[in-house]
Amino acid sequence: MISSVIGLGKLGLPFALFLASKNQKVICYDSNKKILSEISQLKSPYVEPYTANYLKKYNKNIHISEDLGYLIKKSQISHLVLPTPSLKNNSFSNAYILKCLDEIALILLKKKNKKHIINITSTVMPGSCNIFTKFLVSKGLNKDKDFLITYNPHFIAQGTTIQNLKYPDFVLIGSDNANGKKLISYYNKIYKKKIKLSYLNTVEAEIAKISVNSYITTKITFSNFISEICQNTKNVDGNKVLKTIGGDHRIGNEYLGIGTKYSGPCFPRDNKALNYFIKGKSKYSLPNYIDKINNEQTHRLIKMIVKIVRFKKTLKIGIFGLTYKDNTSIIKDSQSYDLIINLRKKFSKKINVYDRNIKPSNDFLSKYKLLYNENMNLFVKYSDLLILMYPNKEIVKEVIKSKNKLVIDCWNLIDPKKTKSKIIKLGNYY
Ligand SMILES: NC(=O)c1ccc[n+]([C@@H]2O[C@H](COP(=O)([O-])OP(=O)(O)OC[C@H]3O[C@@H](n4cnc5c(N)ncnc54)[C@H](O)[C@@H]3O)[C@@H](O)[C@H]2O)c1
Repeated sequence: MISSVIGLGKLGLPFALFLASKNQKVICYDSNKKILSEISQLKSPYVEPYTANYLKKYNKNIHISEDLGYLIKKSQISHLVLPTPSLKNNSFSNAYILKCLDEIALILLKKKNKKHIINITSTVMPGSCNIFTKFLVSKGLNKDKDFLITYNPHFIAQGTTIQNLKYPDFVLIGSDNANGKKLISYYNKIYKKKIKLSYLNTVEAEIAKISVNSYITTKITFSNFISEICQNTKNVDGNKVLKTIGGDHRIGNEYLGIGTKYSGPCFPRDNKALNYFIKGKSKYSLPNYIDKINNEQTHRLIKMIVKIVRFKKTLKIGIFGLTYKDNTSIIKDSQSYDLIINLRKKFSKKINVYDRNIKPSNDFLSKYKLLYNENMNLFVKYSDLLILMYPNKEIVKEVIKSKNKLVIDCWNLIDPKKTKSKIIKLGNYY
């Protein structure tokens, strides 16, 4: 089966490359010509690890096309990896997908042998696939005969997208017609049958997708909740407590540790979307409480900073890491972004910032009165209070080398015995 990928963004391009690495011929299309041109020159538009290497290694299986018609004619299955931005009410917009389906419908109507699988890979609200089917029928196409809508989201995280695609816990397929089972053989071929497949109807699959992320936000929030309790209890190390809790096999240690709030492009918005979806279906909203507790995490950190700075007003604050996690370029709504906005309400002095993944824009730096230092060494030298915002080995090494600094370790990364700086751990009584 020849596949096509429509939308070569932060998920679409790695997914197309992953398919290419599995010897699949993939036709790729994006409405943004700049992205197509960069990919044609074998340059990755994203900092995502492996994408640049995969482009060089597997480009023989990738065919870039600027013609959606060619792509629909030549492939039997199209993966739609289009944006579904959150609306003000926290549900997801289907506008990009509907616009693309409109174009696909025109192409399919003219095609003799139709039978196209339109596989929705974007994260959508429960009920959306039914809307897409009705939309295509309203354009004159025959459901299940000319086209089939399936839902097949991937459980990936930025920074590890290709690795997550290579080694998924399971592949989720949603279909309302037995023909959707073709996707089972499609993935069995790709993964050489070494993979767990979950085959549901589309609404079940749509609910499952956002619920997985909502569950993870619940676990992270539980960790932060216990971490806060420990921090306010004399002689208690939150890390030890959480490690012990996670030792129970029913709980497990993943996502159960000391850390900042959760952020990024998926966790908060999927959790909020579930909160939107459950209205009228459940009396109490767990996702709503999770969201509220998560938003408190920055204030928790600010309280610590205020306590420290109160005694040493001349301290220069240094925020170590701006993106929401390492190996990504997304600053917007990251834990550091939130910290900066809230610190600005309390402190007027310049704040030092450093990030190993990106150089922030001048607008961002001047808006929040930030001093960016490209050199990690100098950044540490010019800061007195360092706040470690995401885990990274290089950052840990630099802090261990430092002397006479105050360090807020938000992720339990540093062994205090290994450095001449003073380590203050989130989750420890302070
Ligand atoms: N990025 C992630 O970490 C991640 C993880 C899980 C799920 N998702 C979901 O995947 C979907 C895509 O996310 P993303 O981060 O890759 O978005 P993105 O904004 O990085 O990429 C979307 C791409 O679609 C292209 N596009 C828009 N309209 C088009 C059209 N009509 N035809 C062809 N191309 C078009 C854009 O030019 C862009 O390159 C979203 O629903 C998102 O929720 C993303």
